[in-house]
Amino acid sequence: MKAIFPSLAVAFFCFPGVPGLATETPAPTEPKITWVDATDPTVTDIRAAGERNIERVGRALISEVDQTVAARGPAEALAVLHLKNFPLPKPGPGQPRVTIIKFPSLRVRNPDNRPDAADQAALDRIQSELDAGNAPPSLLIQRIERPSAPVEWRVYRPIGTSNRCLACHGDQDSLSPAVRAELDRLYPHDQATGYSAQQWCGVIRLSLVAAEPGPPVHIRKP
Ligand code: HEC
Repeated sequence: MKAIFPSLAVAFFCFPGVPGLATETPAPTEPKITWVDATDPTVTDIRAAGERNIERVGRALISEVDQTVAARGPAEALAVLHLKNFPLPKPGPGQPRVTIIKFPSLRVRNPDNRPDAADQAALDRIQSELDAGNAPPSLLIQRIERPSAPVEWRVYRPIGTSNRCLACHGDQDSLSPAVRAELDRLYPHDQATGYSAQQWCGVIRLSLVAAEPGPPVHIRKP
């Protein structure tokens, strides 16, 4: 299993997407979640905006970890991470708009990051690829439909740990006493320790809405 985790500074997984479409049948009040193949031409814009912004978020996550830990040490940094004040990117004209940035994981630290049904489906899909000894998909896309609401698109990318993450996500025994105490105080039900480097630890998830149609063009008649 180790061999499939590349040791990248940014700790992203870069593998081809898993092809295929599957639809989950929802209960009547649940949102309808549909998998969309990342190579489907109808999602070109969503995919492009998703990938571009996931790259930005990933870089920001890494540099925030590095800068905050260097400036304050890991125990103090714990109260600040990750990207709590990161501004939602402004879309260019005619581009999809990012509405939510989240880091769901199967091993929850902050209960606010707990996966919802759609997140869980994405996390489970990645986990089952890994369990089968396959490379995880580099990108997953879902269309989420709710009655009388615009379609929510979700783009997920798996992220992995590197050594810089282990001060706060490594084995319990390897954490400094100050970090352990701070974790107990802030996150008494923390499950996000026990990782080693190059291990899958969650996803960067963006929610997007498609570009709104521009204002109507009025042609003045002479
Ligand atoms: C200085 C401590 C610290 C370091 C170093 C750190 N994290 Fe975290 N991590 C946290 C905290 C605190 C949270 C909870 C975030 C929140 O409250 O939203 C968290 C949460 C997460 C989560 C979501 C899990 C959850 O349920 O909240 C992921 C994924 C994650 N970190 C990945 C990483 C990665 C990847 C790295 C290395 C690049 C890293 N972390 C480095 C402190 C740290």
